[in-house]
Amino acid sequence: MKITCVGHAGLLIETESTSILCDPWFNEAYLNSWIPFPSNEHVEQDKLLHCDFLFISSSGQDRCDVEFLGRVDKAVAVILPDFKSFNLQNILIDLGFYNFIHIPNNIVFKLTNSLEIIVSTNSSNMYGAMPTATIAIGDGINSIFVQTNQLDKKSKDLTTFKQYDIHFAQIAAPSWYPMVTENPESIKDILSKQLRNEQMQGFLEVIKTFNAKVVVPYGGPPCFLDKDLFYLNDVDSFETGSKLFVDAYSAIQYLQNNGIENTLLAYPETEIVIEGNFIKLTTPNLQSKGLDIAYVDKKRYLTSLANKRCKESMPDKERPTTDLLKQSYLLEKLCEFIEPIVPELNLIRVGLNGRILISTHTESVVIDLLDLKIEKFSGQLCRFKFYIEDDVLKRAIESSNNEAFKSLFYSCRFATELDGFNNDLVYAFLMALSPEAIENLEAVLEKNPKISDEAEINGYRIQRYCPHLKADLSQYGQIDQNIITCTVHGWQFDLESGKCITQDDRKLFVKKLNNKK
Ligand code: FES
Repeated sequence: MKITCVGHAGLLIETESTSILCDPWFNEAYLNSWIPFPSNEHVEQDKLLHCDFLFISSSGQDRCDVEFLGRVDKAVAVILPDFKSFNLQNILIDLGFYNFIHIPNNIVFKLTNSLEIIVSTNSSNMYGAMPTATIAIGDGINSIFVQTNQLDKKSKDLTTFKQYDIHFAQIAAPSWYPMVTENPESIKDILSKQLRNEQMQGFLEVIKTFNAKVVVPYGGPPCFLDKDLFYLNDVDSFETGSKLFVDAYSAIQYLQNNGIENTLLAYPETEIVIEGNFIKLTTPNLQSKGLDIAYVDKKRYLTSLANKRCKESMPDKERPTTDLLKQSYLLEKLCEFIEPIVPELNLIRVGLNGRILISTHTESVVIDLLDLKIEKFSGQLCRFKFYIEDDVLKRAIESSNNEAFKSLFYSCRFATELDGFNNDLVYAFLMALSPEAIENLEAVLEKNPKISDEAEINGYRIQRYCPHLKADLSQYGQIDQNIITCTVHGWQFDLESGKCITQDDRKLFVKKLNNKK
């Protein structure tokens, strides 16, 4: 079995008779924020266009590169994970792919006479907003595990191929928190450091669980070359770095400090050949491709990439010359996305329990999930606030339509002030502005008792957990006529309307029962 790294999470896996291309990514993603690191622009793309199988692990733009996939031979057999959402399949159909092999979750599937695979989906992060899939591939003698997402616990099904020879291990899930918050830089650094330590502990646990002969950290992070995003790159060593996006070099340092020695650092065009018990790595000539300093002098490497990109890029790709947004552009667009999904909003309203402000220089609009309306901002109290440049928002909407917020969030080109414990939910909601995605999100929330549980009190069915800090109202709710008081901090709600009497930004979701006396 031969594996050629093609950059980021991209792998070309070849056996004597079969080839599988996984997650090829070459073109800038998420509003041109994400760029493959180390650069893979020298990788010969033509040889990737005619493989036997194609595996795309998610609809993320760094996995599903529509510009590159547009060139791939459409007769390729697409290995399709068993996602609840049809989003990825629809994107591929739109590109012209038609030959899909639907793979049930977590079973050994005979792909060819000599090749077996196991595909496992994971939608545990951010309420399933970005489902991903991993793939394990075995040829009867050797096997590899291509872990394309951040696993947080052992998946027994994926250990079916005895011991894996190689574990391609994604280091961490991409995130925009806490970089986009309105906190001082020093606080953001502390929060990032905490989060990255947690992520790395999870990463180590997964490595130990699968206990492969060799570990290749891969699949991120991208680099950020725009002036205003450059600070997101982690250019320090693992010990001194404070950014969220830990790269493969730092991940290897971390693993070695924790007793994992069997690691390999892969670059685009690195080849790894597995033959029985032997694993042979061939690294391309790094100097000739300018990759020799990619990790060891990362700041200089990225600065030179940024300068090169600046010279090459079309001015209108960097800063599109948009007309000023007309005053009602945002309102009209949000209405267009949200009105069709309003009838489906049930537990999402309970979980978010508030208003969302979307603000640009030109326009500020409130998505009011208390009273289900979208309106111009006029001083309403809003729990969730997003600030976006006009041209960024317009690009996001025009390039991704009802996936605009997905592009926007991953791009890190926004700022936010959020309140409460359900921040992941507000992101998940805004990333799910289609009827299918909302239905999936509602189904996920159904399983969350803090959001879906109800209690019957005094002839009303009410949400069981207080909209303030989730005290159990069946225990701490005190009723006096039609007012329920949460005795934990004293918030009061009118049982007839659910209106919060003590606050203007929350609501108790209430249904009057017919048998009320
Ligand atoms: S938890 Fe109910 S008022 Fe604070």
